[in-house]
Order: sequence, then C-alpha cells, then structure tokens
Amino acid sequence: MKPKAYVTRILPDKAWEMIEKFCEAEVWEGELPPPREVLFEKVTEIGGLLCLLTDEIDAPLMDAAPELKVISNCAVGYDNIDVKAATERGIIVGNTPGVLTETTADLAFALLMATARRIPEATRFVQAGKWKTWELTVLLGQDIHGATLGIVGMGRIGSAVAKRASGFGMKIFYHDVLRREEFEEELGVVFTDLERLLRESDFVTLHVSLAKETHHLIGRKELEIMKPTAILINTSRGPIVDQEALYDALKSGQITAAGLDVTDPEPISPDDPLLSLDNCVVLPHIGSASIATRTKMATMAAENLIAGLKGEMPPNPVNPEVLSSRVG
Ligand code: DGY
Repeated sequence: MKPKAYVTRILPDKAWEMIEKFCEAEVWEGELPPPREVLFEKVTEIGGLLCLLTDEIDAPLMDAAPELKVISNCAVGYDNIDVKAATERGIIVGNTPGVLTETTADLAFALLMATARRIPEATRFVQAGKWKTWELTVLLGQDIHGATLGIVGMGRIGSAVAKRASGFGMKIFYHDVLRREEFEEELGVVFTDLERLLRESDFVTLHVSLAKETHHLIGRKELEIMKPTAILINTSRGPIVDQEALYDALKSGQITAAGLDVTDPEPISPDDPLLSLDNCVVLPHIGSASIATRTKMATMAAENLIAGLKGEMPPNPVNPEVLSSRVG
C-alpha cells in the first residue's frame, strides 16, 4: 500500500508527478491556504505533509496526526513550523535551501534599484499624464554605484546580494552572528556591528531568518540611527521590521525609502498606511517567484517528502537529529 500524503497547494506538474508515483496523495486546490479545520481533518491518517509558508504547523496539529513522519516545507524559511515540537514527536522537517538563493538576491537588488531610482513612482507619474517635458529636478533618486550597502545576515542570500553589489562598485558592510572571513576575502566586504552598519550605510538590506532574537531587529531605535538618505530593503520576513516604526520613519523623512517584499502580517491590508506612501515599495512576497526556481523548490520539497515517508534522511533536513539518533 502506498503511503498517504497531503499537499496544501497545487504544485508544478513535475513535483506532483513525483509525489503521485510514490504516494496516495491529496492536494488542496483552493487559491487560499487550506483553513485550519481542513488541515486538522486531513492530517489524521497521513504519513507526510507538504506545506507552504502560509500554513501554520504547530504542536496541536501534529498531535492530530499520529502517523505523521515528515513535514516538507516548500520554502527555505520554516518559521511557520514548530520544529521543536516536530523533533519531540520524531517528525522530520525538510526545507528548500540553495535553489532560491540567486533568484531572491535578484529581487532584493531589484527592490534596491526600484526604491533608489523611484521606478514605481515614475511609472505612476507617466500613467497619470504628468510627464510634460524633460525636467532637471523631477523624480531625483539616489545613486547605487559607489554607495555603501549594509547587509544584515551574510548567509546564502546575503552573500549573493554582496556579489551583485560589488559589481556596482558599492562599499559593503555586513553584520552577522558569525564572522564570514571567506566572504571578506572574496568580496571585500567589511564586518561591523549593527550600529555602525546602520549609521553608515546608504542602503540596508535584511537577510536573517525570523526567530525570537530577530523579531523587530529593526525598530524605532535602529531607524533613528540610520541616515536620513538611507533606504531599507527587506526580503526576509516581515516581523523582522517594526512596521509601525517604519511607517513613522518614512512619513517623517527620518529615512528616505523602503522596499519590502515581506510584511507583517501577510498579506498586508490594502488599508495599511504604508501603502499610502510614495517612498515605500511593497511587493507580495515574490522573492523566489521565477518559473525555474519555483519548480526547483517544489521538486526539492517532493524529494524531502518522499525520503521522509521512506524513513530515510531527506536531502534537506531541518532537524536531522530525528533520524540520526534513530540510526545511531
Ligand atoms: C522562503 O523560501 O522562505 C521564501 O520566503 C519564499 O521563497
């Protein structure tokens, strides 16, 4: 008999075919995430769950799933899953690192350029019929070449952003819990504390994962020490920035602009005051949204699911100790 799996959203064909070959799988076909009560009903007999970052997978849900062996998140971030609870229950969790690094770095850089050169605002200007002539002092932005970039979190995506920035002749500071000497040599990036990075950077880009320690890492105090000409880019997770404080800083001109691919909450309400600001560019969490990358993420998530169902170590485990302790 094939093992049972539940998939919380329609996947690219390639990934779905892999899953169907190995499992008796059911998929939630809705446009929005499955409601919580549906998840509770569906997990009762499954061995594997393939979910997205929009699905909250917590201890009560795991307790409703006595057969569950594997949770495969189709994302690199996994703050939607209580990994500790999964580990305690012997459930292996998988994620999709690596395959989305370059695509997300592209988007972070696109946001940086869009905010620096006011591209969405300029498009609205043209659409509104305001383009009457070439003007010397209209829609002036910030230079990117030669500016100082502060990268908070020098992991896979942070270092991929650094590569792009060095091509633009930017001076690059980074801050991380770990010093990354290999990147210092390769990319000429300079390690610094967060305060100096915020104080001296023209652009600050966030690439840390969401945890207790990084919640509101950028709040009122941090925004206050940034340059009035500075631009903040967030493509990591919304709650890393205190959004109310950011609104105040953008409104008062304490910083110049922000480019956000992630918000708190998601989706952001259409009535959120941030959306009324010309100096804030908000995207609907599309960092990894290229056709090729989303296909790779889904196939990697399928591989993690299938391996977990077989009782094998998934190619990308988040809590490998669940299986290594069994083997050991
Ligand atoms: C992730 O994978 O964590 C991104 O936020 C979405 O691709």
